[in-house]
Amino acid sequence: MNVIDVKNITKHYLLGTQTVEALRGVSFGIEQGEFIAIMGPSGSGKSTLMNIIGCLDSPTDGTYHLNNQEVSTLEGDELAGIRNKEIGFVFQNFHLLARNSALDNVMLPLKYAGVDKADQLKRGKDALSQVGLDSRMDHQPSELSGGQQQRVAIARALVNNPSILFADEPTGNLDSQTGHDVMQLFHNLHQQGQTIILITHENEVAAEAQRTIFIKDGLIESDIRKEKL
Ligand SMILES: Nc1ncnc2c1ncn2[C@@H]1O[C@H](COP(=O)(O)OP(=O)(O)OP(=O)(O)O)[C@@H](O)[C@H]1O
Ligand SMILES: [Mg+2]
Repeated sequence: MNVIDVKNITKHYLLGTQTVEALRGVSFGIEQGEFIAIMGPSGSGKSTLMNIIGCLDSPTDGTYHLNNQEVSTLEGDELAGIRNKEIGFVFQNFHLLARNSALDNVMLPLKYAGVDKADQLKRGKDALSQVGLDSRMDHQPSELSGGQQQRVAIARALVNNPSILFADEPTGNLDSQTGHDVMQLFHNLHQQGQTIILITHENEVAAEAQRTIFIKDGLIESDIRKEKL
């Protein structure tokens, strides 16, 4: 079964009298457990596509089924509800709350979801263990290394058991060794069955994925599956 099915997705932005066609008819399916890299030049439509399949924005036209549910017609709270339940995000700049401990940062999505406090604590601690940060739960972001901060962000993205983990340039702010460690973590999560979609400019990072979708001028230029293992 496909987790994601997009058909003929277009996205037009209106800027005054000008229309920007950021996506011009994109179709693909993603199966549960796939690890996919999205690559393409600056301005090609990668973030626009991620915003739509991450339920942050709606397409102008086309259909999008997420776990068999049509979501392209949803807006506002309905879309946010699906997003909180189904999607975990990891960003280049970590996006952690500076004055909160690692554990509080990770528990936040559960708080929003109305999970009771005891469950928040248990699941928050489990998620931090999963990324190897048992001994750093009470540290604030400024008391953690860049790689550790990104691990906290990954734990926060995973704590809701999302259908899909999205990462936009997750190693962009890390030195090469730390970036490598974070990619090892994505690799392990994939081995455990997590569906992962990651946007990257780096061939080395994309090499970790099983499949690479190249976007150019708002269209899929190629969609390549690796014969690996
Ligand atoms: N909110 C917006 N309003 C108008 N035009 C936009 C908006 N967001 C993006 N665009 C335009 O849509 C096109 C695709 O942008 P997008 O951000 O998806 O590119 P990208 O592939 O993520 O690029 P980068 O690698 O630089 O992050 C670009 O031409 C951009 O200028
Ligand atoms: Mg972008």
